[in-house]
Amino acid sequence: SKILPISNVLKNCVLGDKIQIKGWVKSLRKMKETAFLDINDGSCRQNLQVVLPIEQLKLLSTGSSVIAKGTLTKTPRGQLELNSHLVEVYGDSNLNDGYPFAPKKTYSPVYLRQCLQFRLRDTKFASFLRVRDAAFLAVHNYFCKNGYINVHTPILTSNDCEGAGEIFSVVPDNKNMLKRMNTDHIADDETYFDSKVFLTVSGQLHLEAAAHSLSKVYSFGPTFRAENSKSRLHLSEFYMIEAECAFMDDLEQLMDMIENLIKTVTNEILYAKDDDIDKFKEGQLDFSWLSKEFAVLTYKEATTLLSNSSNFKFIPNSSLNKEHEHFLVKHCGNVPTFVINWPKALKPFYAKEQEDSHVAALDLLVPNVGELVGGSLRENDYELLKNKLPSNALDWYLDLRKFGGVPTGGFGLGFERYLQFVLGIGNIKDAIPFPRWPHNSDI
Ligand code: 4AD
Ligand code: MG
Repeated sequence: SKILPISNVLKNCVLGDKIQIKGWVKSLRKMKETAFLDINDGSCRQNLQVVLPIEQLKLLSTGSSVIAKGTLTKTPRGQLELNSHLVEVYGDSNLNDGYPFAPKKTYSPVYLRQCLQFRLRDTKFASFLRVRDAAFLAVHNYFCKNGYINVHTPILTSNDCEGAGEIFSVVPDNKNMLKRMNTDHIADDETYFDSKVFLTVSGQLHLEAAAHSLSKVYSFGPTFRAENSKSRLHLSEFYMIEAECAFMDDLEQLMDMIENLIKTVTNEILYAKDDDIDKFKEGQLDFSWLSKEFAVLTYKEATTLLSNSSNFKFIPNSSLNKEHEHFLVKHCGNVPTFVINWPKALKPFYAKEQEDSHVAALDLLVPNVGELVGGSLRENDYELLKNKLPSNALDWYLDLRKFGGVPTGGFGLGFERYLQFVLGIGNIKDAIPFPRWPHNSDI
């Protein structure tokens, strides 16, 4: 008999098939002569029920890993179950020895965060991981179908793209190696690279270089920010989807592209992972925005709304805080809302200048989260850009404008915040397998 993933068994097998499955015991019931085990192997949300003679139960308890062999039959309710003559244990699970998952309980996110190595086994968290995987694939599919080339941008970089100073520096740990290296090359200087090097906060500048060759490019990788913040929306390490398009010269095109990506990926995961997403439905997920157009406000319109509301004392030309963002999304009927045309001083050096010292930049605000996307057209006027550059370390970037320059535009979308938005996840630490935040990096 064949060893099959449970998802295959449930989809393709019929009564009488002789099969084997491997997985973990999620729950266990004992009757007089038989025992019932719910086995899950992570291939899908569903468990397969295994029936076996009570004397076979031996060491088995919840959490044990097992292989079960037998013949497929049906429960009185018509579901497939495995009638097993033999269940072998790989690893037993001694519940008295501190295994934190008692049978059939549900656990709070805060509790689960205290044992990250086991959190992945929680049934709801496993559902989350399958949805995250489906979304990851759907993003790549979207870009592939729409003619974008994936480019791996570096993680070690000497630029602070956002200029916010929220960067981690990277230095080698092995002093002996450095000494050996330096006697061969540069004397007496305990450095590895010749300039300061950081973990990337954004691959944008390198993506722009790629867009000047491939026209439409994207990246999807880890991004690092030394945020001095323990908020429910910030991680020290998160995944960012970034795209960059050459020959893009208005924000409409950029907004269309962002709206399309978000709607396509969401429709795809709703279709592919509906039963896993069901697990998140107690949070009353609202997908009505999928059939509506995203709203658009200029920064000026947005801030006029804020100034006119008695809830806020809004300081002109300042950035938006979370309360502001939630207010604006609510005002627009809880559909994702673009805020466009920002004051120059509120956006990084690369944003393209327009008349009235505005820049062609956008943020996309969404329910539950606030800012999900930041993007802009890029300054492609050589002289203007040269004057705005923080230092000559970015001369290579300036060169893009010197030789075969084109208007470009692009955006960055925080993948964990996207998952928070669609699944109604309150805290971003529950939207990534192994979250990193200040004072938390042990597991
Ligand atoms: O708005 P940000 O800083 O934009 C950029 O980095 C641009 N260079 C992107 C580009 O145009 N290529 O970051 C983009 C998004 C934010 O809107 C947010 O969703 C997410 O990245 N983000 C974070 N997510 C989790 N934890 C953090 N500390 C984050 N910082 C930003
Ligand atoms: Mg931003």
